Amino acid sequence: MKKLKVGIVGTGGIAQAAHLPSFKKLENVEVTAICDVNEKKLAYAAKKFEIPHTFTKAEDLLEQDIDTAVICTPNAFHAEYSIKAMEAGKHVLCEKPVCITSADAEKVFKTAEKTGKKFMVAFPRRFSGEAKVLKPMIENGDFGEIYYMKAACLRRRGIPGLGTWFTDKELAGGGPMMDIGVHVLDMVIYLAGAPMPETVIGSVYSKFRDKATDGGWPPQETRIGDKNTGRMEVEELASGFVKLANGATLFVEASWAGNSTTGLNASLFGTKAGVQMPDPLNEKNPIRIFSESRGILTDVIPNMPDSEMYQEEVNHFVECITKDKSPITKKEEILSVVRIIEGIYRSAETGKPVIMKNNGVQTKRRV
Ligand SMILES: NC(=O)c1ccc[n+]([C@@H]2O[C@H](COP(=O)([O-])OP(=O)(O)OC[C@H]3O[C@@H](n4cnc5c(N)ncnc54)[C@H](O)[C@@H]3O)[C@@H](O)[C@H]2O)c1
Repeated sequence: MKKLKVGIVGTGGIAQAAHLPSFKKLENVEVTAICDVNEKKLAYAAKKFEIPHTFTKAEDLLEQDIDTAVICTPNAFHAEYSIKAMEAGKHVLCEKPVCITSADAEKVFKTAEKTGKKFMVAFPRRFSGEAKVLKPMIENGDFGEIYYMKAACLRRRGIPGLGTWFTDKELAGGGPMMDIGVHVLDMVIYLAGAPMPETVIGSVYSKFRDKATDGGWPPQETRIGDKNTGRMEVEELASGFVKLANGATLFVEASWAGNSTTGLNASLFGTKAGVQMPDPLNEKNPIRIFSESRGILTDVIPNMPDSEMYQEEVNHFVECITKDKSPITKKEEILSVVRIIEGIYRSAETGKPVIMKNNGVQTKRRV
């Protein structure tokens, strides 16, 4: 059997904690090449995961005889390397947040369409138990019309890689909204069927400059040779209110530091049912569905299916290539998420609401 050859660009925390171990578990795949600008880390990862070929320039890796490239660099390079990889004939699995701007996200999807290569965004929560339970129910109409959503990813104290690229505006593009808010935002936009933003109003806050503490990510053993400039140029809290083209509204918030609880939380309000993730009354049951049956209000706590999010993400991507399937992350969903985040930052900067044009991918207004 011919094995699928994988090359990974950026061999830091997520590559070592998720992608390399997950790809290495698959019998029909071999990771033949890795790339990192940090030579010490590159050598460490090559030894740890027994990777034969190493490169310090992404372009050199992309010239190799590989079928697919996995982009795990700082956010600012995602679009450029994804485009170069697809133009070089490789399928691409790109880490979130895909792109910093919607213009770049559109270029990436245009390249995928032009080259016919598979392009998937690494959003592991698409493979969570919550998504597996809720997506089919919502598609079946069990929730009715979803008209209001809340999405939060909050940390009381926990700035990733404080002083490295994570807190460098140019390389990261933003703070917690770009980094962790994007996960929960993607989850609700995916579940709600990719409504496009029409108006976005957002704010960002930097109140913890003097009290900022490193949040423990990336894992210490993956930080070998990392440069730390000490720069903290992005927000530690961002929030946004979005009017969507289908008439629904969404409130989203994300923080790396704040005087609040820590955790991921989302709710969907539908005309037939709603859901709270996680269940506020019982953390062991990750979701609670609120509904009504013959005039009686009911709470349903589903048995959650097993989920190994990172392994399933990689399994799905490989299957998309070997069985010619469409990746689970669709263009409209990804563009909606990128535009919302872009709108929040633009609104925060200008102090005004941002009205989106949506360039022809706007979903139809339902109400
Ligand atoms: N899906 C998830 O759950 C998840 C979790 C963490 C991080 N991420 C994403 O993964 C990406 C990487 O994050 P991380 O936590 O691994 O960061 P990291 O700093 O641990 O790793 C990034 C690596 O990229 C290397 N790099 C920088 N510029 C490069 C370039 N031009 N070419 C090649 N290599 C380059 C760095 O030296 C570093 O080793 C980010 O986009 C982040 O948002 C996703």
